[in-house]
Amino acid sequence: MIGISWDSVRLFLHVLAATVWVGGQLTLAALVPALRGAGQEVPQRAARAFNRIAWPAFAVLLLTGIWNVAAENDQLHGRYRTTLSVKLVVVAISGITAAAHARARSRRAMAVFGALTGLSALLALFLGVLLAG
Ligand code: HEM
Repeated sequence: MIGISWDSVRLFLHVLAATVWVGGQLTLAALVPALRGAGQEVPQRAARAFNRIAWPAFAVLLLTGIWNVAAENDQLHGRYRTTLSVKLVVVAISGITAAAHARARSRRAMAVFGALTGLSALLALFLGVLLAG
């Protein structure tokens, strides 16, 4: 059996939080039509319930992300550094557009910010895999 190290704990927590933040958004989006069928207010109630785990997951991503950077300190130059910088911008967009989506009142703003937060979350996931690869 492969031994458990702090590196495995660090990456486990980072990936676990990513599954909630990214996977939860995709799953909720897929469920919206069925939820709407159960009542106009149901998607909003589901989104509010999801937010109660999504934002703690985002906080875990930020904290374990800082832990990742500290652990990979010797790699912080060249293409790795550029990829990390792009990822941080994308993570910021993901957080800001998720907050804007939650506060949006019009259907159009909700759709635009919802698409932006989903796409940026997916891109952050991909850039994370590039960094770990
Ligand atoms: C939406 C937010 C984020 C998502 C979805 C995300 C996702 C991921 C994923 C899937 C990995 C690959 C893990 C693996 O394959 O073992 C990863 C690695 C990494 N992430 Fe993130 N991440 C996010 C936020 C952050 C933040 C805020 C930072 C920095 C402050 C960060 C820094 C890193 C670093 C340095 C690695 C490479 C770790 C290593 O190779 O040891 N991430 N991320």
